[in-house]
Amino acid sequence: MRGGYSRSLTFGLSLLVATAASLASAADLPQLGKSSDKDVIAAMTREEKVNLVTGTGMRMPGQPPSAQAPVVGNTQQGVPGAAGTTFAIPRLSIPAVVVADGPAGLRIQATRGDDKSKTYYCTHFPIETLLASSWDTELVERVGRAMGNEVKEYGVDVLLGPAMNTHRNPLGGRNFEYYSEDPLVSGRMAAAMIRGVQSQGVGTSAKHFVANDHEWNRNTIDVKVGQRALREIYLHAFEIAVREGQPWTVMSSYNKVNGTYTSESPALLTGVLRKDWGYDGLVMTDWFGGKDAIAQMKAGNELLMPGTPAQRTALLAALESGELGEDVLDRNVARILEFVRRTPSFLGTPHSDAPDLKAHAAVARQAAAEGMVLLKNQGALPLAPSVRVALLGNASYSPIPGGTGSGNVNRAYTISLAQGLKEAGHAIDAALAEAYPRYIDDENKKLPPRTPFQAPPLIAELAVANGDVERLARETDTAVVTIGRNSGEGRDRTREDFELTAAEKAQIQDLATAFHAQKKKLVVVLNVAGVLETVSWRDIPDAILLAWQPGQEAGYAISDVLTGRTAPSGRLATTFPVKWEDVPSSANFPGKVLEGPDPNATGFRAGQARAAEVTYDDDIWVGYRHYATKGVKTAYPFGYGLGYTTFQIGDLKLGGREFQKELQASVKVTNSGKAAGREVVQLYLSAPGKALPKPTLELKGFAKTKLLKPGESETVSFTLTARDLASFDAASSSWVAEAGTYTVKIGASSEDIRQTATFAKTTEEKIAGVSTSIGQ
Ligand code: BGC
Repeated sequence: MRGGYSRSLTFGLSLLVATAASLASAADLPQLGKSSDKDVIAAMTREEKVNLVTGTGMRMPGQPPSAQAPVVGNTQQGVPGAAGTTFAIPRLSIPAVVVADGPAGLRIQATRGDDKSKTYYCTHFPIETLLASSWDTELVERVGRAMGNEVKEYGVDVLLGPAMNTHRNPLGGRNFEYYSEDPLVSGRMAAAMIRGVQSQGVGTSAKHFVANDHEWNRNTIDVKVGQRALREIYLHAFEIAVREGQPWTVMSSYNKVNGTYTSESPALLTGVLRKDWGYDGLVMTDWFGGKDAIAQMKAGNELLMPGTPAQRTALLAALESGELGEDVLDRNVARILEFVRRTPSFLGTPHSDAPDLKAHAAVARQAAAEGMVLLKNQGALPLAPSVRVALLGNASYSPIPGGTGSGNVNRAYTISLAQGLKEAGHAIDAALAEAYPRYIDDENKKLPPRTPFQAPPLIAELAVANGDVERLARETDTAVVTIGRNSGEGRDRTREDFELTAAEKAQIQDLATAFHAQKKKLVVVLNVAGVLETVSWRDIPDAILLAWQPGQEAGYAISDVLTGRTAPSGRLATTFPVKWEDVPSSANFPGKVLEGPDPNATGFRAGQARAAEVTYDDDIWVGYRHYATKGVKTAYPFGYGLGYTTFQIGDLKLGGREFQKELQASVKVTNSGKAAGREVVQLYLSAPGKALPKPTLELKGFAKTKLLKPGESETVSFTLTARDLASFDAASSSWVAEAGTYTVKIGASSEDIRQTATFAKTTEEKIAGVSTSIGQ
């Protein structure tokens, strides 16, 4: 242990209330881990139990306890800047447990008080949307290991991630924190992340369970969603994560589903999660989520975070009146104890406060480069060695590593593209390199004050005069312009944010005109939180690299791909539509406000969050399921992405012509081009669709090859199970695999199917183990 401190069992002690009668002498007391949990529970006072199921609250310095906004967690207890802690009960050897955000890296405070001798920076990894675009679960697991190591070394017990809601609409404000529009990709990525983080002996929280897909009125909105869509799209991702990742905790979401807050829903938390999926971990609320602590206890939401005195009062009163049975409380306490026994705080695992940030930066850089998607390339990339670059765009000099809110990370630095290209041996036009940072600095100073959780407004692009553009075209070899977009928790993106501004388009046009006149190329880099409109301008530049928000190593990773140091191999895990109106959920996005403000809203919610609802009448037709089935043209389809080479996908071999219990499928992939590269092989399935309407194709498997040299091959195989063939039949509340002919489609994207083969299923199969419906 270097310069660390041993975990304390004592903080929060002052808040413990225990009646004298219940306090036996210390020697007689059961101790967690040494005695049975049952005995420990029997020795607890009612107050202690209630404390244990409610966190210790958020007491930020200088803020009254009533100041609960922003809801993003922030506590000074345990590890400063963590999101919350649980109560310690030292007399029973129950330590406080520390939980902290979030999906792109550990979010804790970087400095502590006046102590300037030490910093607590964490690695800002790429956003989840980028990680998903790598289609590489091994890579994501590696990122998880590095992230989990920081969690452990900074003395935190649980990372509040991965976040895994659905990219239902491009304007979802937290889409950057989520993986994909497809549940298989989201679920597999989340499971890999969970395995990676938890390999370090710390926990995760798969969040936000479930259907918290947009930010608008998120604390009150009622998501009306059909049983089939709920099971096949929204729950399915969590099901995979729970089954394949086994997260220590799941975080219930803010919203209601079909009339009930998810945190108060026995159907979701007990029926689906525990009964259907066999989940044996803990459920915690999102921060201040839901309303009725008693209903939450009954539903199986064991831990209320960050925990409030009002919740404790309500729970004690309900126990007194009999509205809440002691047995329910004891069940929840038992699950919390089981969880606590796994934590480093309980096990006394030492921590150094000094993780290997250098090694983790290397992981972040590689992951970032592997998840970028080359959307277009007409001979512009890779950049030839040492070419002189006219580097434009504010974000080239002031990169956007990730989104804001709880998904942000207090990183030590962010590498700009200017720095990345320079270190890769490229000269950047000196006048631009001088003008941009100065301009950005001046503009930043003019911005109105904001809380650390608010996304900074975009500052207008530095206007580069026409004469300058012509000079750049003469004096440099290639133009690279970066378009930047941020996004953050608490609000959805706007239509304006989805489009490029007139100034951005004009700049792309001016640069293209000038550079093309000199027979030189223009590259556009998108440093963005989510999907954008591209069709109106994409024909103008010669190449477009979708760099997403790549984390703190942004500039190195972008430059790695631009120069070919890393072969581009990312593929879209979310469709780029031609226009926003084409997205099926846009017809009723974000939903409608019901009558007046929510009468039950208290605290920060009063006057802000209003009763609202949204109907998911896009049903299961989310993303490519819609575009492919309805034949709607896309800008860039799901699964799409270019490399610096090409691949040939050989004959598809099936293990049989008839489906028995399982079916194997395999294909040989060969690098048919001139550069090394990695291919993402996507297995889609078309089901007969006799009883239920079925999408033209659905992703059922994916595999990424290793780096293949020109001419080199790799065979990838998949196993299809009955569940892969099935759809959710709401009428019988079961998964049904129909009899009939199925077609396996192997594609390089959902619109680029290279091989097909069919097999038959002779009998219909119902898959058991599904609880009743969730709401109406
Ligand atoms: C977010 C969660 C986060 C929590 C604690 C909430 O506002 O929705 O994702 O984990 O704050 O910071």
